[in-house]
Amino acid sequence: AAGDPAAGEKVFRKCQACHAIGPDAKSKAGPALTGVIGRPAGKAEGFSYSAAMSKEAEAGLIWTPDKIGEFLTNPKGFVPGTKMTFAGLRKDQERADLIAYLATFP
Ligand code: HEM
Repeated sequence: AAGDPAAGEKVFRKCQACHAIGPDAKSKAGPALTGVIGRPAGKAEGFSYSAAMSKEAEAGLIWTPDKIGEFLTNPKGFVPGTKMTFAGLRKDQERADLIAYLATFP
């Protein structure tokens, strides 16, 4: 089913220990995610990325909905060596909802 941003806001609770999103969001343990959909990887201002994520950024990774979906399914599988310590979201609907929520912060 299509992603539901309201349901995705609840899923985002799993991300909030490390990520903020919104007009005034600042990077915490993880980079601020405002505008992340469609943005090149590794570009949050003032955030120090892992060598692994920086390498993906240099290789031209763009956070399209599909690529974010792949990353969130299995972060360390998609970007080996990433310092994002998160097991992943295995449910398709949870990922679709979450991505719909992220898209509400262009
Ligand atoms: C990186 C999303 C959970 C820590 C990222 C990036 C995205 C993302 C899209 C890449 C951003 C960029 O290139 O600017 C999410 C979402 C989460 C989640 C949607 C919840 C479903 C977490 C959690 C933590 C975390 C729980 C901390 C335990 C990080 C860190 C990075 C990162 C440290 C930088 C990775 C690196 O440089 O290798 N996250 N994340 N994330 N996230 Fe998360």
